[in-house]
Amino acid sequence: MAIERTFSIVKPDAVARDLIGKVYSRFESAGLKIVASKMIHMTKEQAEGFYGEHKERPFFPNLVEFMTSGPVMVQVLEGDNAIAKNREIMGATNPAEAAAGTIRHDFAKSIDANSVHGSDAPASAAREIAYFFEESEIFSR
Ligand code: TYD
Ligand code: MG
Repeated sequence: MAIERTFSIVKPDAVARDLIGKVYSRFESAGLKIVASKMIHMTKEQAEGFYGEHKERPFFPNLVEFMTSGPVMVQVLEGDNAIAKNREIMGATNPAEAAAGTIRHDFAKSIDANSVHGSDAPASAAREIAYFFEESEIFSR
C-alpha cells in the first residue's frame, strides 16, 4: 500500500476536555505521522463549506453550530493506507456503535459531539487538506 495523506479534526468537544494529546497519541501509535497541525476556530462560512456535502441533511444546522462552538485542531496525517487506517481507529460515527478501543468509543459522548473527523476517500482527503493547509505547511518525513 502506498503512503497516503488524510485530513483529520480534533473536534470542539475533545479540545474542550483536553484530549488533544491522547488523540494525537492514537494517531502516532497507529503509524499515522502528524505532518501538519494547527488550532483554529472555524467561522460559520468555513464550517458550512467544509461540510457542504451534508447541507441537505436534517442534522446540518446542528453540525455547523457544534463545529463553530469552540476551537478545533486540524491536521494532516500521513502513512500506509492512512485514510482507511484513520477511519478504523476513529470508530463508527455514532460512539454508541463504535468498537472498543476506538477514539469515538473511548472519548466521544454523542453522535454529534463525536470527537474526531476523518476524510472518507482520496478525493475528499485532497479537498479537505487543501481547504485548511497550503502545501508549504505540510512536512512529510
Ligand atoms: P458523516 O460524514 O456521516 O460521519 P463521519 O464523521 O463518521 O464521516 O457525518 C458528518 C458528521 O455529522 C458526523 O461526524 C456527526 C454529524 N452527524 C450527526 O450529528 N447526526 C447524524 O445522524 C449523522 C449521520 C452525522
Ligand atoms: Mg464523513
